[in-house]
Amino acid sequence: MIQIAPSILSADFTRLADEVRTVERAGADRIHIDVMDGRFVPNISMGPFIVEAIDSLTELPLEAHLMIEEPDRYIDVFMDAGADVIIVHQENTAHLHRVVQSVRERGKQAGVALNPATPARVLDEIIDELDLVLVMSVNPGYSGQRFIPSVLPKIREIRRTLADREIACDLEVDGGVNADTAPDVVSSGANVLVAATAVFKHPDGTAEGIRTLRGRD
Ligand code: DX5
Ligand code: ZN
Repeated sequence: MIQIAPSILSADFTRLADEVRTVERAGADRIHIDVMDGRFVPNISMGPFIVEAIDSLTELPLEAHLMIEEPDRYIDVFMDAGADVIIVHQENTAHLHRVVQSVRERGKQAGVALNPATPARVLDEIIDELDLVLVMSVNPGYSGQRFIPSVLPKIREIRRTLADREIACDLEVDGGVNADTAPDVVSSGANVLVAATAVFKHPDGTAEGIRTLRGRD
């Protein structure tokens, strides 16, 4: 069963409550919140206040995708704000194991994201402890970028590892996922699709955006 995680980065923030309620009604499975600090990535987006606001609007699980320096300093703040899944990047988290343990100790889910240039093998020693692996299919920082197809073998490799080692862990893909790219992403083994543009900027509305992503579900 494929899960859809709309990224509110492309939502209309003048009507955030409507946008969140609309994706919930349209069958979204979780809400993806892109946190950017202008240092780890060039863009600045939103912080824990937005997580708290969205938490008051929906029953859906919230995932905080932390594209920030020193993410370990902020994981508690985001969990306090209502994040159910904390996703940190492997590239800038020195003590990944500690972060994962801290998140899980609070009964929340721990995810690790990999940039397009980061190989799957960096997760070898930690993947058994994870609830989610996020494969970035664009260089993080902005919505509306083009999908990088060379990440597909990495998705397949991670799916193979999860199957071989019998690990129950979500495999999520983020960046440039739309009705054209989703079929390859899903057939490569992803089970959670993040999409900002394809949902919130769909010409026929967000509900249709979610429906077309599910396409071959
Ligand atoms: C990129 C973010 C993504 C982004 C996806 O830095 O992590 O979640 O919002 O946007 P689309 O779906 O438009 O590529
Ligand atoms: Zn994201």
